[in-house]
Amino acid sequence: MNIPQIEFPNSDSEFIKNPYPYLKELRESSSLHLDTLSDLALITRFEDVKNVQTNKFFSSADPEEIENPNRNEEEHEYFWKTENFSLLNLEGQLHSDLRGLVAKAFSNRQVQELRPFMEKRSSDLLSEVNHKEFDLLKDYAQPYSISVIGQLLGVPEEQYDNFLYWSNCIVKMYDLKVSAKDGEEAEQAARDFYEYIYNLIDEKVENPQNDMISRLSEVSENDQKLTKDQIICTVILLLNAGHEATVNTIGNSIVALNQNNISTEGLNEKYEIKNIIEELIRWDSPLQFFQRWVLEDTELGGYELKKHSKVAMLLGSANRDDGAFKDAASINFERENLNHTSFGGGVHFCLGAHLARLELEVSLLNLFKYDVKVLKEPVRTGAFGIRGFKEVLVST
Ligand code: HEM
Repeated sequence: MNIPQIEFPNSDSEFIKNPYPYLKELRESSSLHLDTLSDLALITRFEDVKNVQTNKFFSSADPEEIENPNRNEEEHEYFWKTENFSLLNLEGQLHSDLRGLVAKAFSNRQVQELRPFMEKRSSDLLSEVNHKEFDLLKDYAQPYSISVIGQLLGVPEEQYDNFLYWSNCIVKMYDLKVSAKDGEEAEQAARDFYEYIYNLIDEKVENPQNDMISRLSEVSENDQKLTKDQIICTVILLLNAGHEATVNTIGNSIVALNQNNISTEGLNEKYEIKNIIEELIRWDSPLQFFQRWVLEDTELGGYELKKHSKVAMLLGSANRDDGAFKDAASINFERENLNHTSFGGGVHFCLGAHLARLELEVSLLNLFKYDVKVLKEPVRTGAFGIRGFKEVLVST
């Protein structure tokens, strides 16, 4: 049976504004759809997404490159240099060795120790804004989130603006289509980022501190240590993954509450804060899809998939699957099933979920002291994969 073909409207602004009705149609009409523009088989249903996350026939690593991760891409040399040892692109022994070492340097205790810093930073930022009108993203969520990850890693504050700029440029490479201009900017940003972190690691090796870059330089398991390139890729991944999705979750969450006429003030007194966070991340996932290569001919959702073809797991769609979540289109803070896919699953499950959850908890608890009102309809960034807004003007 052939997979039904569609042209996925991933750059259509009306679709991006609210992709969920269209995704529901896809989900209900067939388990898979082949996007003729990207040649990706789109997986829309919860069970199929879960299956792919834990199935050894699906790989995050390009099968052509598994033996040689040091590929030499001509056009985007530095972008690929920063991606070569990104955990997101690795599989097998190398992935589990690297992930084990990084996890050792990124324990829950170290994350919990950041709570007082987060509380102070969040309160300070909210005391500095103009409560009549401010941009929740630029004036609050971005500086909050970048300083938390910056503090954890041990990077100097005066570099935060550069990190934001570099990371904004680089993440554009993760969308389904990348323009030549975005590609060039991402390459330059990756080069600057790479060179900066390269030198910073040297400083940390000479003069270790109580921070994650120092720990990554020292950590070992069975006589194995991280190489310098592995540390650079990990630091860049943590900086990028560590703020973009969290910032967008804060923006998406406040907009979602406003759109659904749920007052923010005192919300945590009515429902468990942990449930509020999980439900908001489920309802409007900040990361909408991740891709996998198919390693062997296999079957999924009743269709055959060919070796070396590619699939995309549509996480936001899976989270709206009525088969997995009762009345999935509604926000329900008393939902029993909180097992959403927004943090992924299987061996690539989000390594920073403990940090993201704490950051969101501290941040939302502070915001819920106010009746946060969205002042005018916010405009989406235009990207499908990384789901967020350009700005979110609010009053408190
Ligand atoms: C709300 C915020 C966040 C969301 C929704 C999120 C989501 C995800 C998802 C879906 C994956 C799996 C990707 C895949 O299956 O290929 C992932 C992986 C990852 N995330 Fe997060 N993330 C968030 C915050 C963070 C933070 C704060 C950090 C660290 C500072 C982080 C670090 C990572 C890393 C290192 C991986 C790669 C793990 C691996 O491939 O083994 N994330 N994240």
